Parts: sequence; structure tokens; C-alpha cells
Amino acid sequence: MSTIEDLPERTLESRLRFTRDMMAGPIYRKYEKALRKTWDPGEWDYSQDRADFEKLTPEQQKGIAMITVRFLAGEQEVTDELLPMIYAAHMLGKFDWVMYLSTFMVEEARHSQFFAIWHDKVLDAVEPDELRPYWIDREKTVDPSGRFSTGEPVYEGLPFYGQQLLDACHAGDIQAIEEGFVRFATLYNVWVEGVLTMPSYEIVIDTCDIWNALPTLRHGFKEIIADEGRHITFGTTACRELIEEHPEYAQIVHDTINLYRGNAVGMLEYQRFVPELNLDKYQLQKVRHYKNRCRELGIDVDQTLIDDILDPSIDFVIGVEAG
Ligand SMILES: [Fe+2]
Ligand SMILES: [Fe+2]
Repeated sequence: MSTIEDLPERTLESRLRFTRDMMAGPIYRKYEKALRKTWDPGEWDYSQDRADFEKLTPEQQKGIAMITVRFLAGEQEVTDELLPMIYAAHMLGKFDWVMYLSTFMVEEARHSQFFAIWHDKVLDAVEPDELRPYWIDREKTVDPSGRFSTGEPVYEGLPFYGQQLLDACHAGDIQAIEEGFVRFATLYNVWVEGVLTMPSYEIVIDTCDIWNALPTLRHGFKEIIADEGRHITFGTTACRELIEEHPEYAQIVHDTINLYRGNAVGMLEYQRFVPELNLDKYQLQKVRHYKNRCRELGIDVDQTLIDDILDPSIDFVIGVEAG
């Protein structure tokens, strides 16, 4: 059995990781930007939000809290499921990715913190039993035409594909790590953050504007969107780097999106609580984001997916995508 004494001596290059190329690269620059753009929800004032919330109708209270409590859970989930990406960056020797991902994890933790404080200060609710009244349990969503299934990309997909990526990392199989990274980053950064969650942010901000209420919630969402923009383009930049070396990885992107295709095709269910919202706007937004992600990845768009998202005859609703 080998012991630690048997290890070869580490080279200088394996200890000193910085290069000028790395520091000029797009992912290192995202790290620098994340440091400059920090914010602290612990310093904010939540009293106006509390006063506004008390003045909303019970239906409006239920509607907005149904969304925010999903964000509270979703942000925690994405914080807690980020680790495989960091492990993969380490195994692939991408130190700029590791540095950037250290800020990414802090930001997801901060988003969780923001929602925890907001619910504590505005609803007096932090713990599961206190939040249960706002958690809307849904039956599994079914497309009445039977064409699309929907699933749980955040609560089932990320832990499942994250575990696969961890297994590849443990095995030290570089090709499996690269493929697993593309699959996991497609699900996490491209699909969940980059397409499905985007309309949820806009819906909350639009709702605050229509009601002229909840300024700190609105401000928090604006800050979160700025952080999410870096998360998304980290994922697409990193995957593009791998796809340029291995064009066959582009198919992994399409296959991963197709696993949860129905989640983008269905309409969001907020409409019941905020009838003033223009729902077509959010379907169009999903298409715009999907096209942007494909462009950033350097891959072809799947026109049939765009047609399905915009098809007015498809009208089943899906729950909140939040993270
Ligand atoms: Fe987040
Ligand atoms: Fe994020």
C-alpha cells in the first residue's frame, strides 16, 4: 500500500497557478466583478415591506408569499448543490473557475439569507412549520395533451446529476468529468438559472410595480438578477470552452434541456393571483433567454422548442421555478 511518503514532489507549476492569460480571461474577470458588486441584506430596512404586506388582500398575500417561499427554498437548494461544480473545476485544473465559483457560492448563500430575513421581518416566519401555510403543494403537473412531462429540475435534477459528477470526480475520469460538468451546468446555469427562473424574477418585480409596494423585496430581486447574470454566463462560458474542444458535447446540452422541456413550455401559475400580469411577455422572455444561452454556448437553437414555448394551444400551468 502506498503512503504519503511515496508521493512525488509537487512541481512549481502545480503550486503557483496564476498566469497572465488566466487573469485576462473572462471567468477571472467575473471573479473580480463579483468582489466589487457585493451587497448585504442584513443592512437593509424591511419595515415598509411589512407595512405594505399587512395592507394587501389575503389573496395577494398568499400569491406573493407563494412565490417568495419557493425562492427561499430554491436559493438554499442551489447553494447546497453547487459543490460538484467546484470539485469538477478543481479536477480539471481550472483555478479561475474555482476562484469564480467561490464567489458564486457566497452569492447563493446571500440570496438564501435575503429571503430568510425577508420572511422573518415581514411574515414573522422562518422555520418550516411557520412557512407551511404559504407552501402551496401541487399535484404533479400534467399537460392535458400528454405531449410534455414536467419534473423537478432543482429538487431532483441537481442532486441527481450532481452526484453523477461527484462520482466522475472521485474516479478521476477526465472525459466523464467534462461530460458531467456540461450536463450539470446546462441544467443549473443554462436551464434553471438562465431560462426557467428568469420570468419568476420579472414577475415579482412587475407585481411590486403594479401594487406599488414591497420596495425591499423589489430591490433584493434587482440585486439577485445582477448576481445571476454572472452565474449564467459563467456556465455558458465554461461549457463553451469544453464544447469548442469537443463539439460532440453540444448534444449533451440539447439532451439535458429536453429532460425538462415541459417546464419551459408550460405557463407559470402566478396568473391566478396577479391578473394584471401580461403572461405572453413571460413566454417571450423564455424564448429570448433560450436564444441568448445558445448564442453564448455557440450551439444551434432547437426551433421546435421555441415553437412549443410560443404555441398558444399549449396552456397547462407549472409551478414556481426559483433559485
Ligand atoms: Fe440565486
Ligand atoms: Fe444563481
